Amino acid sequence: MSREKKLKFQVPYGMHDILPRDQKYFQEILKTVQTVAEFYGFRKIETPIVENAELFSKGTGSDTDIVEKEMYTFKTKGGDLLALRPEGTPPIVRAYIEHGMQSLTQPVKLWHWGPFFRHERPQAGRYRQFFQAGFEVLGERSSVIDAEIIQVFYSIFEELGFKNLVIEINSIGDSQCRPYYKKTLSSYFKSRQSSLCVDCRRRARENPLRVLDCKDEKCQRIIKSAPQIVDYLCPECHEYFKEVLEFLDDLGLPYQLNPYLVRGLDYYTKTVFEIFSTEPSNPDNASESGLVRHALAGGGRYDKLVKLLGGKDTPGCGGAMGIERIVEIMKGRKMKFKNGQRPKIFLAQLSKKAKRESLKLIEEFRKAKIPIAHSLSKDSLGAQMKIADRLGVKYVLIIGQKEVVEKEVLIRDMENGKQRSIENGRIVKEMKKKI
Ligand code: HAM
Repeated sequence: MSREKKLKFQVPYGMHDILPRDQKYFQEILKTVQTVAEFYGFRKIETPIVENAELFSKGTGSDTDIVEKEMYTFKTKGGDLLALRPEGTPPIVRAYIEHGMQSLTQPVKLWHWGPFFRHERPQAGRYRQFFQAGFEVLGERSSVIDAEIIQVFYSIFEELGFKNLVIEINSIGDSQCRPYYKKTLSSYFKSRQSSLCVDCRRRARENPLRVLDCKDEKCQRIIKSAPQIVDYLCPECHEYFKEVLEFLDDLGLPYQLNPYLVRGLDYYTKTVFEIFSTEPSNPDNASESGLVRHALAGGGRYDKLVKLLGGKDTPGCGGAMGIERIVEIMKGRKMKFKNGQRPKIFLAQLSKKAKRESLKLIEEFRKAKIPIAHSLSKDSLGAQMKIADRLGVKYVLIIGQKEVVEKEVLIRDMENGKQRSIENGRIVKEMKKKI
């Protein structure tokens, strides 16, 4: 749209409308997430979209990009400093503590779905409001949980038809071994300060692990030869990591070790992972385009977070996936839905009386849980048949004046053009048999 014609009101920068034509993608993903979540014994939780800002500065970490640069905060009329939630883990941990879930049988397995907010620089697949689905397991220290969380995401992506998936995994140790690694890393970066970006010069002093997350080319060159945490893990973390990898081997999941994967959130201990999909950069000309990687999900273990937020010392592990990124890939690849609930029947009507009959009939189909499409506002049969054609239905039911008088419905088979009339009291049963 040209500048002069720019609309006065537009969706806020970096945010987006999810139009009716795209709802099917979100519904399909939600349905898959829910089915897999139930299969693995997760129960749904919903927390508010706003929380106390301090929950994130303490939980996610005050010097992380998410909190420092990207969090939407505001003062309420009562003077509280709230934040639009930038991520789901601290709120779920808050709810776990607040509702005494420590006294339930452990582990407590929770899943969630909803909008999140980060004031990031918008680009493909990155929005300022986006949907996430997440899984958290609280109250279990076993390495099999880490593998199960990864398996959950992998199953969802597989169910959705993704094939080119890569799991990157690393261990970032714990309070035993990480401080020494951080010190070593800090001296490594400090001695190469002049080759780092401005932000990383500061990070090298304050939190050298953050440097490993930097995408700047100059920094990437330095990172490539940086000391690796795997060489600094204490025996316990080392053994734990080995166990996670063994479980992944048993599950046949394709993972790659990435010694520099640290993730940009402060609460992680031991396992961290990300799941990527590799896609052609131009889906319309896949054979000639390059490949791009999309981070679809990320997560890890967080054994100190519950205590940090005021609860009893309780381990946790989880992850979250970005829904918009998945939708964009599904659209680009023109992925088909396995079980889309498209109506196979269209109801056409001719005359006012027929419209009234149709209203009643639609209700009967709804009660019988049979989807039926219609366009009651249209009067001409031609216009209605066009819609039926576009929807690709198998049958069109027609109620004209004759059918109203004779209390019948005409069934037209769209594949062979055959038609026959049937008593309207038997139509729902008949159609149930047919589809
Ligand atoms: P995260 O890596 O920040 O982790 O986000 C998880 C996923 O959300 C990313 O892999 C990406 O697909 C998606 N995502 C993140 N930012 C955006 C954005 N601006 N626009 C679109 N999609 C985005 C977490 O949020 C942690 N809470 C995960 C976790 C749960 N760790 C343990 N439990």
